[in-house]
Amino acid sequence: MRLKGKVAAVTGGARGIGEAYSTGLAAEGAHVVIADIDPKAGERVAQRINQSGGEAIFVRTDVSLKEDAEKMVAETVKTYKRIDILVNNAGILFIAPVEETTEEMWDKLLAVNVKGLFFCSQAATNEMKKQKSGKIINISSIAAIGGQASLCAYSSTKGAVLPITRVFALELVDYNIQVNAILPGTTDTGMAEEAMKDPEWTRQVTESIPMKRLGRTTDLMGALLYFASSDSDYCTGQTLIVDGGYSMI
Ligand SMILES: NC(=O)c1ccc[n+]([C@@H]2O[C@H](COP(=O)([O-])OP(=O)(O)OC[C@H]3O[C@@H](n4cnc5c(N)ncnc54)[C@H](O)[C@@H]3O)[C@@H](O)[C@H]2O)c1
Repeated sequence: MRLKGKVAAVTGGARGIGEAYSTGLAAEGAHVVIADIDPKAGERVAQRINQSGGEAIFVRTDVSLKEDAEKMVAETVKTYKRIDILVNNAGILFIAPVEETTEEMWDKLLAVNVKGLFFCSQAATNEMKKQKSGKIINISSIAAIGGQASLCAYSSTKGAVLPITRVFALELVDYNIQVNAILPGTTDTGMAEEAMKDPEWTRQVTESIPMKRLGRTTDLMGALLYFASSDSDYCTGQTLIVDGGYSMI
């Protein structure tokens, strides 16, 4: 077990990729805090981890509220005495061409995908600084680096994650806190599930990926555990793309 006794909080950890991160970290021995707006799904994931011999709690958290981000970290420290790993995974998506993109979409996307990630990181690193150690893993997307139609606002928020990652990394370098980002390609769960109902969409996306398949949550575990464990102690401010080769062409 690579994370025995470590304490990890996963935002958006109740469903999709976040659920896989939560169970994956627990399987490596971490105590996991599932921080999500969905209590039913979050409690279910926590229960499943506990029943399989792991350790997890659910903390209802709306990351778009600074107060909730602070409460989530406080609850983590109250329960487990520290916070070693924060996975900023909570995210929302709106698919809309430019002419149909509304101010409301922008405000929601920025609040969850950017502001939420920032204030969860701020709250967590306030504790990590006292510990003089910590790992922050920000979940961006390949949408951050390539132009994809109907994803202008979403891609912008995922792009914003990259400088946030670098600036946190730089400011925290003296505290032994490493901050890195994962850029998943299209993954066959969560946000992509709705689009995958259209076989033509799935065919076209699959065809565009050199490895000729969508990503799976298991494909993301290596990157997650690298950034969460001491293996990455000399690596900070970096981004790792896990996309079956999509972005290289
Ligand atoms: N699925 C993909 O193909 C894909 C590809 C690249 C990047 N990503 C990124 O991976 C992350 C997870 O995506 P997913 O596909 O699993 O999505 P998902 O919609 O299945 O899960 C998102 C989770 O975040 C939670 N959440 C939403 N708003 C929240 C808020 N305000 N506060 C707390 N929790 C909130 C949801 O309840 C849900 O549990 C996102 O950041 C997404 O941008 C996904």
